[in-house]
Amino acid sequence: MSKTRIIALFNQSGGVGKTSLTMNLGYHLAQKKKNRVLLIDLDPQASLTTFMGLEPDITAKTVYEAVVGEEALPIHPELIHSMSLVPANINLSAAELELVAALMREMRLKNALAPVLDSYDFILIDCPPSLGILSVISLVAATHVLVPIQCQFKSL
Ligand SMILES: Nc1ncnc2c1ncn2[C@@H]1O[C@H](COP(=O)(O)OP(=O)(O)O)[C@@H](O)[C@H]1O
Ligand SMILES: [Mg+2]
Repeated sequence: MSKTRIIALFNQSGGVGKTSLTMNLGYHLAQKKKNRVLLIDLDPQASLTTFMGLEPDITAKTVYEAVVGEEALPIHPELIHSMSLVPANINLSAAELELVAALMREMRLKNALAPVLDSYDFILIDCPPSLGILSVISLVAATHVLVPIQCQFKSL
């Protein structure tokens, strides 16, 4: 079994710090012991992609092609702040609908990650603020789940 830790940062509520924590946790893990870190932007709003300094590009491949088209994971060719990134864009929102009828859909992200497990010590998945299929496939792929919450009634 692979030693790679796959952490889904998940909460159906928005604005609780999932994306900020994905990037900052990834950064500190990458500084420590030269961990190899991959961040996956699974939110069609592409906040993580933007926070990492990339312009969300609607012509670029995202995790959409990997989970819907079962293509190789489109990892950005350069390291950003010592981390690898699979960027997102708005096209990813179509995955919610297109995966509804897909065969073995729950396994799609887990399967997409399998070929790159040996290349990373940590894979952090920035989930969208919903309980849709994108969140479900990330929970299936994950070995750990991190749920950031704000100390307010509505955030819970
Ligand atoms: N630890 C923190 N303290 C205060 N504000 C924060 C903290 N982490 C993130 N924020 C701010 O909260 C807002 C939402 O954060 P974000 O990471 O985008 O949340 P989410 O991904 O859950 O929607 C952003 O404006 C961000 O700058
Ligand atoms: Mg976010």
